[in-house]
Amino acid sequence: MVLKLKSIAQVAAGAVLAASIGTQALAQETVKIGLIVPLSGGQASTGKQIDNAIKLYMQQNGATVAGKKIEVIVKDDGAVPDNSKRLAQELIVNDKVNFLAGFGVTPAALAVAPLATQAKVPQVIMAAGTSIITERSPYIVRTSFTLAQSSEIIADWAAKNGIKKVAALVSDYAPGADALNFFKPKFTAGGGEVVEEVKVPLANPDFAPFLQRMKDAKPDAMFVFVPAGQGGNFMKQYTERGLTGIKVIGPGDVMDDDLLNGMGDAALGAVTAHLYSAAHPSQKNKDFVAAYKKAFNQRPGFMAVGGYDGIHLIYEALKKTGGKTDGDALIQAMKGMAWESPRGPISIDPETRDIVQNIYIREVKKVDGELYNVEFATFEAVKDSGKIKK
Ligand code: PHB
Repeated sequence: MVLKLKSIAQVAAGAVLAASIGTQALAQETVKIGLIVPLSGGQASTGKQIDNAIKLYMQQNGATVAGKKIEVIVKDDGAVPDNSKRLAQELIVNDKVNFLAGFGVTPAALAVAPLATQAKVPQVIMAAGTSIITERSPYIVRTSFTLAQSSEIIADWAAKNGIKKVAALVSDYAPGADALNFFKPKFTAGGGEVVEEVKVPLANPDFAPFLQRMKDAKPDAMFVFVPAGQGGNFMKQYTERGLTGIKVIGPGDVMDDDLLNGMGDAALGAVTAHLYSAAHPSQKNKDFVAAYKKAFNQRPGFMAVGGYDGIHLIYEALKKTGGKTDGDALIQAMKGMAWESPRGPISIDPETRDIVQNIYIREVKKVDGELYNVEFATFEAVKDSGKIKK
């Protein structure tokens, strides 16, 4: 009798063991991506674009890679870096994510960098654009852009195209500083002069007083950097304040495709340098724009492309490691990876883990009754000059 009881206990213990091995095996079959993006507040359009694009990519490519099921855990940080840090911590410790991704603004990306290093978890930057970000952790890889990439190119174009006096308006945080710091020396070296500089608060900006100073400076053009999501409000106040005679130039963030068509004719003639236009004439982009519009009933902007390429990079890295989620192996797999994005050909610089991409100069024009950034010059395989200079 005793013996029999013991054997039942043994069977039960065996069953528990088998069940727990089963769960472990199942757990190992899932690769978890913690997506930290702003889905509320002033930067919400960035998070929405990235979240949409990832959903679209997974719809098109399936949710299984190298035998592993991909699970995306979405968290809204409202672009507040303390939130980003807390959420990253929870995702690492509780959810045991294999990737951290997203990061709508530079302070969010920087706040999480030490955690990525500590946990050896790849941190894929899909939005933020300050040059320094990739230097903050060997586990950071970027699929977005840097402000340096576009700001130098537009500076050169402006100086060579009869623009002598520029008044600059930038958002008062790291990427705004990068935009101006890379624009100014190039523009000045080309014979131009920056006659006025204003820095506008990032949160809920009222552009009106700053626009008056721009107007009073009587420049040939205005160099503008505001982050994705703010261009619509900026152009509304620009029009209301009667600045429409002053040409807008800059990195393309202010003319983000998801808002551009609502800006009205005041946007016509704006010339910006950037990585992506919804009007980019490749087949890959035409398919992407059509699929995105069909799924979400709006145009994709450059943030959507950063998300689409970021999830592609994660998929391809997993294929290369055969589904292994060791952080060092994944980063190694990502280095030097090259593919065709809706924006054009791109790659990950193996030395800096930053994106190498074409930068296009574009002018806002009306095409079939809608406003588009129409590309007219291409600079191929542009690296982040923020790092080249060091
Ligand atoms: C950033 O915070 O790095 C950032 C955000 C939005 C942009 C560009 C840069 O459009």
